[in-house]
Amino acid sequence: MKKKTVLITAGPTREYIDPVRYISNGSSGKMGYTLAEEADRMGMDVILVSGPTNLVPSRDIKFIRVSSAKEMLTAAKKYFPKCDIFISCAAVSDYRPAKYSLEKIKKNGSPLNLKLLPNPDILLSLVKSFKQFRSRPKFIVGFALETENLIANALAKMKNKRMDMIVANNPDSIGSVRTSCALITKEKIMRFQNIPKIRLAKIILSETIISL
Ligand code: C5P
Repeated sequence: MKKKTVLITAGPTREYIDPVRYISNGSSGKMGYTLAEEADRMGMDVILVSGPTNLVPSRDIKFIRVSSAKEMLTAAKKYFPKCDIFISCAAVSDYRPAKYSLEKIKKNGSPLNLKLLPNPDILLSLVKSFKQFRSRPKFIVGFALETENLIANALAKMKNKRMDMIVANNPDSIGSVRTSCALITKEKIMRFQNIPKIRLAKIILSETIISL
């Protein structure tokens, strides 16, 4: 069987306000990096595009370190047409500051208003523009982190972003080695309570491989 290539986005993005401050999302990158390590162990070619985390991937993994959502989109776009599987695990910041200050903004005791602009949706823009590319990945996995209506919101995202599978979880999983989640495909929903992320990664990847 031809070696499969998997592209994974992981970690948070950082949207800088000035040289020291930024807005971001809570994300340790553990789920994305665990998926990358497991895919590597399964013999796949792995490309990991990651926002800032404290994690270090194995040497076999092609690693692209980014900071902002725009940088993540540029990097993911380069590899998207060449991969068999795309796993969008990154907790992308939905907004970025409208203005970047070259100098550190001085505090003066008054409220500070920040204007935020919406960031590009990486997954959505890749699936929408796939016609420009020669091909698109055969299988796309996304994640949804919700505090309410978990399954309904995840199903809507899966349809809107043309995913083949979505992993729906809640904020309790951030930074933890375990998670409680629902893994949803077009055919079924599997629910897991307090499952180690490494075990979940193996399940996601084996469900993906049988669908290729
Ligand atoms: O943030 P949201 O819940 O919409 O995320 C759903 C999926 O879309 C996730 O897989 C996430 O990685 C991806 N996403 C993205 N670019 C964004 C926001 C989310 O690729 N700007």
